Amino acid sequence: MLLDLITSRRVVFVGGKGGVGKTSIAAALALGRAAAGARVLLVSTDPAHNLGHLWDRPVGDEPLRLADPGDLAAGAAGYVDGLEIDPERTVEQHLSAVAGMMRRLLPERMHAPAARHLELARQAPGTHESAVLERIAEAVELGEEAYDLVVFDTAPSGHTLRLLALPEQLTSWTETLLANRDRSERFGAAVRGLGGSEESDRDAELRRILVRRRNRFSRLREVVTDRAQTGFVVVLTAELLPIAETMEVYEKLTGLGVDVAALVANRRSPADAGELLARRRRQEDKHLVRLRQRVPDVPLLDVPLLPGDVVGTEALAALADRLGPSSS
Ligand SMILES: Nc1ncnc2c1ncn2[C@@H]1O[C@H](COP(=O)(O)OP(=O)(O)OP(=O)(O)O)[C@@H](O)[C@H]1O
Ligand SMILES: [Mg+2]
Repeated sequence: MLLDLITSRRVVFVGGKGGVGKTSIAAALALGRAAAGARVLLVSTDPAHNLGHLWDRPVGDEPLRLADPGDLAAGAAGYVDGLEIDPERTVEQHLSAVAGMMRRLLPERMHAPAARHLELARQAPGTHESAVLERIAEAVELGEEAYDLVVFDTAPSGHTLRLLALPEQLTSWTETLLANRDRSERFGAAVRGLGGSEESDRDAELRRILVRRRNRFSRLREVVTDRAQTGFVVVLTAELLPIAETMEVYEKLTGLGVDVAALVANRRSPADAGELLARRRRQEDKHLVRLRQRVPDVPLLDVPLLPGDVVGTEALAALADRLGPSSS
């Protein structure tokens, strides 16, 4: 059923409180869609990555095949590629590109102050987030070219919400820069007399770079807030704190214009395996009723507590079966 809910989407974010099963559900979704023939890119945005542990092989900053048709149902043409975004490496690449650009565009006397400025930027709050966001935008673009679906396994909620709110902020930050640029360009042109000088060429290049960045983030914003393309799956366990956090996340996402496609109550206790678990089950039910009252319209799906850890393709495929059309 969860798999049905996301069939038409091109981008799915899987989020929720720490430890509730985000990575397991994200990977199972990816595998389930691949088994149905989709080419899927599974991307971890969590700095504490664990796609590698889950799939039992090292996953890095470039897409790597995690499962292919041979691993899946006979005849399936789909596959899963995985990648773990490395914010450090992204920041380094970004800064060295900017440094190169500055050396080209700025007069010699500005090189040293510019280098100092970049060194500060490396440490500045927001640099990592903006780097991760850039990579998310890139993964979405890669998804448009080469995949049917991109599944993001995200970091615990707070971090992810800040990220999703960022395109707005980064866009307006770029707008401000552009506006300043526009003013100074006009001013410069008025002083120098029109056009042709080396300086106005530099201005034009800087402007092009800023515009490219602005377009990239506003495009990401468009895709993320288009419910036909993008859905957010919130994973939770039916306990006090994860439920409270789910309500909060639901409201924030809705406020940001992001569609919450489904809620997944993971690790549900069985009602028929002894008194302790039956009592837990009743307790969980009460929490879920409360969640239902606050969030009435989003599909809520149960995933049972499984006997073993979810590690390796076989366990993931078994979990994916629970998310398929036949589960509730
Ligand atoms: N339905 C389930 N039944 C049993 N165990 C499960 C189930 N779902 C997940 N697990 C186990 O719970 C643990 C946490 O799962 P997972 O790593 O997917 O959570 P997470 O939300 O991604 O955690 P983090 O916030 O640390 O990234 C893992 O050991 C996983 O194998
Ligand atoms: Mg995880």
